[in-house]
Amino acid sequence: MNGTPQPFGLLAEVTHQCPLHCVYCSNPVALLGRQDELTTGDWIRVIGEAAALGVVQVHFSGGEPLVRGDLETLVAEARRLGLYTNLITSGLGLTESRAGSLVAAGLNSAQLSIQGDAAESTDLVAASKRFDKKEAAARIIRDAGLPLNMNVVLHRLNLARLDAIIDVCVDWGAERLELANAQYYGWALRNRELLMPSKTQLDEAVGVYERRKAELAQQLELLWILPDYYEPYPKPCMGGWARTALTVAPDGVVYPCPVAAEITTMEFASVREHDLAWIWANSPAFEAFRGTAWMPDPCRGCPRKELDFGGCRCQAFALTGDAGRTDPVCRYSPDHHLVRDALVRANQEEVADGELVYRRPTVSARGR
Ligand code: SF4
Ligand code: FES
Repeated sequence: MNGTPQPFGLLAEVTHQCPLHCVYCSNPVALLGRQDELTTGDWIRVIGEAAALGVVQVHFSGGEPLVRGDLETLVAEARRLGLYTNLITSGLGLTESRAGSLVAAGLNSAQLSIQGDAAESTDLVAASKRFDKKEAAARIIRDAGLPLNMNVVLHRLNLARLDAIIDVCVDWGAERLELANAQYYGWALRNRELLMPSKTQLDEAVGVYERRKAELAQQLELLWILPDYYEPYPKPCMGGWARTALTVAPDGVVYPCPVAAEITTMEFASVREHDLAWIWANSPAFEAFRGTAWMPDPCRGCPRKELDFGGCRCQAFALTGDAGRTDPVCRYSPDHHLVRDALVRANQEEVADGELVYRRPTVSARGR
């Protein structure tokens, strides 16, 4: 494809339906309904086109992908094409028989999310009293012979529990735990005042992470996803726009990342009208921020531009309304005060008051 990078990962968001209501949900603010979803046949075509494009891993996600009764068919198709398959799940709805049929279809691994170390945390963050189901799901995943990967989003309300969260994951037999500090776009931006940790909280949590990482080196792989507001430079989001992976939303619209549907000033193409190869290589939205030629100052002349690619386009849009600006996290960004001001508020003596806004099933009008 004439110098166009080749994607290696496909995030297949097979549905937006989800039993949880997380206050940091990364799905679009307006969700798609079941009537908007691609059919089984559509997904089989998409998986085939992804394989032809060079994709080697498919992550089945949502919402809660277990809601789709055809998940086994999609997993089997991906495996038939030699792709690695991973299930990203809340664990709700996972039974022994469902795990058995997914493994029989060729599922390679599962990633189970938790909100904290106890029932109260799931209730507080996800408005769900189903922590017991998560423990059961961990057992079912292990008993099915799958490696158990776990994920927890970290924020002001659970960072102090990090030691206990890690203990839970060890008890449940996790092999890998992603400690993902919250990223503030989508629903999390609405709750930023209540979720953003102070520097003191964060420093203490980093100490816990480093101690436990050393202690558990032979048992559990711990990954720390940086809280970018506290970093001097932005993250190289997605390894660069349209560079390593692509996301297909439940209705077939294709994005360079799972959050890009929030960039309302851009038009993204759908697999209902184009094949993935064209969308990846030629669609205007994928071309818009690929490489470095699009960059404004200060990125244009910056020695880090091949390292962080100007940061996150979704964050630039969420904070400035322009996806083409330097990520405001960057200390050189003309919009950096937007991040600095949020940090000042997070580090005030007085804790912000207010109420968490839970993810509600707002339905999108897209595609109708
Ligand atoms: Fe990265 Fe741009 Fe900041 Fe340089 S100016 S560090 S390229 S975001
Ligand atoms: Fe979309 Fe960073 S989350 S580019």
